[in-house]
Amino acid sequence: EVDARVEEILAGMTVEQKVGEMTQLTLQAVSATAATDETTQHALDLDKLREAVVERHVGSLLNVWDVAFTPEYWAEVITQIQDLAAERETGVPVLYGIDAVHGHHYMQGATVFPHNLALAATFEPDLARAAGRATAVEMRASGIPWNFSPVFDLGRQPLWSRFFETFGEDVHLVTEMGVATVEGLQGDDVGAPGHVAASGKHFYGYSTPTSGKDRTPAWIPDHVQREYYLEPFRAAIERADLRTLMVNSGSINGVPVHGDAAILTDLLRQEMGFEGVVVTDWADIDKLVNHHRVAADQREATRMAVMAGIDLAMVPYDYAFTDHLIALVEDGEVPESRLDESVRRILRLKLDLGLFDDPYPAQDLVEEIGSPAHRAASRRAAEEAITLLENDGTLPIARGARVLVTGPAADDAVIQHGSWTYSWQGTVRGMYPDTARTVLTSIRDLAGDDNVTFVPGATLTEAGDLGAAAEAARAADVAVVVLGEWPTTEQPGDIETLDMPAAQIALAEAVIETGTPTVVVLLENRPLIVRAIAERAAAVVMGYQTGPYAGDAIAGVLFGEVNPSGRLPFTYPRFANSLATYDHTQSEETGPHGFNPQWPFGHGLSYTTFETSNLRLGRETATAADAVEVSVDVANTGDREGDEVVMVFVRDLVASIEPAVRRLRAFEKVTLAPGEQRTVSFSIPVQDLAFVDRTGEWVVEAGTFEVQVGDETASFEVTSSASGTR
Ligand code: IFM
Repeated sequence: EVDARVEEILAGMTVEQKVGEMTQLTLQAVSATAATDETTQHALDLDKLREAVVERHVGSLLNVWDVAFTPEYWAEVITQIQDLAAERETGVPVLYGIDAVHGHHYMQGATVFPHNLALAATFEPDLARAAGRATAVEMRASGIPWNFSPVFDLGRQPLWSRFFETFGEDVHLVTEMGVATVEGLQGDDVGAPGHVAASGKHFYGYSTPTSGKDRTPAWIPDHVQREYYLEPFRAAIERADLRTLMVNSGSINGVPVHGDAAILTDLLRQEMGFEGVVVTDWADIDKLVNHHRVAADQREATRMAVMAGIDLAMVPYDYAFTDHLIALVEDGEVPESRLDESVRRILRLKLDLGLFDDPYPAQDLVEEIGSPAHRAASRRAAEEAITLLENDGTLPIARGARVLVTGPAADDAVIQHGSWTYSWQGTVRGMYPDTARTVLTSIRDLAGDDNVTFVPGATLTEAGDLGAAAEAARAADVAVVVLGEWPTTEQPGDIETLDMPAAQIALAEAVIETGTPTVVVLLENRPLIVRAIAERAAAVVMGYQTGPYAGDAIAGVLFGEVNPSGRLPFTYPRFANSLATYDHTQSEETGPHGFNPQWPFGHGLSYTTFETSNLRLGRETATAADAVEVSVDVANTGDREGDEVVMVFVRDLVASIEPAVRRLRAFEKVTLAPGEQRTVSFSIPVQDLAFVDRTGEWVVEAGTFEVQVGDETASFEVTSSASGTR
């Protein structure tokens, strides 16, 4: 029925209307330049909007003017847009998309969630699912049915400015957290109340620019692309019916993905069977000309990208793409049938989203914006994310202790929320609500005002009064030094070094040298090198960018209200020039220091202790068609309830391409009462242990596989090799 409707609409469309459907403008392109009041609400320019929607048949709009709108203003904006869309001959509604990447943060009052890196540290896909669900409800309440989220890029290059937007370095963890996010956003039916279309981004290999700088070339061997970078996308398409994809703005092995038919058509459509909508990233067709220099001019770039397989161009300001594409069709350089393929996909999405029936904000969902249930989900995710990296017993801090709080990230809502909060770079200070309590305010609440002294000590980059900080530390029982990084994303966020700025290290050292036990808290976009202080501090806590409840969650951990259960979703390097992921090869372990990170992937302490024992496998031999049952006993051997993340790693001992020393293949977070022991079981299909060989084939090679859980290991033999296992 939907197909018939699509064909009926398509049959009545002109080339101009089809090209319009494939055009996406930013809201700024149809807005007046002046604000309507002294706050931040920018009026639409109704003439420009009419030109876009009615005369130019623009199919999609995105974004926000510059900072978050109120729900009322969103409702007004969406209503004005869809009212105009109803006037066009085709009657096709506009598809509005937005970056609600950790909650619908471009709307004031919405629930903001921890960024993905922090969510990944929870090792709880259910929390990602809940965040996706709440975000979708709040988006639909404002009339927005399409989210440019989640990021499926792998966080394997910590220099990259967008590292915090990833679910970490591991393929399996990224896949599980990402798929759960898509399930939360889309549900079983994107058209059902409170669901939106997700967009897996950035397809694919965007996150590993060799230089670390955003949108610079990535050089990734073909088999690694397939085995690592492609897998989360494949899973989201196959398991969660991911409806849209956004394209990688960079190049892989010299070819910009926006112009690469081998990736966008042969691989994505023919091999992977993706039927959804492919949207470009920001102005990326233009970038084929001046940034990548693979097209001589915009017309050539337009032809290249459309013939490569993009459906919708985030142009985002003007009609150059639109005009070029119309001319290319008229001149016979792009067949109209190529437009039809894309327009079919876009119309189908609009129909499935229910926009033809009702494109307006869902009034009955408005009361769920920032609801207590949504906020509780954000708080719980923050609490589960905080990761205790070191502790000599100083934590938890006793009530009544005198506490010095110092450091540039101690009392800063912008830093704890991260970028993509109320604005692209997240720097609109006036917009952070009072409810966004900082580490300092939350410590004051838990410790009591009289017990807390605050000395700023340093800015993020400049030394402050270290003498004052040291003096205050001497007068305290415990010092909490909150270090961090200014949140930025995309190209404004490019950095030159992974080193924590010297001014912050100097502050921590000055405090540590007083002899007062010192707890270092890190609010960072990525791992910054803290070698100089990591081992001298009494405790180290990773706080990530956990959003409005960062303060409460961190203070809760510091004072023992929360038993920490976060685990690092990446390898924390010890040296800026010695980077490796946990799933490196054995040959990377040579040299005097071997593989020597500051903290390994999966690391995280608790206030209780766990013991893992009795690892057993359901079989000693297997073929590629079998699954191996893995069971292990996990006991809480301490005296308080706690969460353990049971991680199953598998090592292929010998393979024709250097195998990783271990790969995470399954995990489960379990809550155990003091003294409680539980058996945790997993079923691991042998085909999941395949790797991609030099011909691009998925293969399982005969030989020994070692299963590792905690300190326990057990082995099984794969008796015969098999290829084409995926
Ligand atoms: O969705 C984003 C993308 O991640 C980076 N460039 C801009 C897009 C739209 O805002």
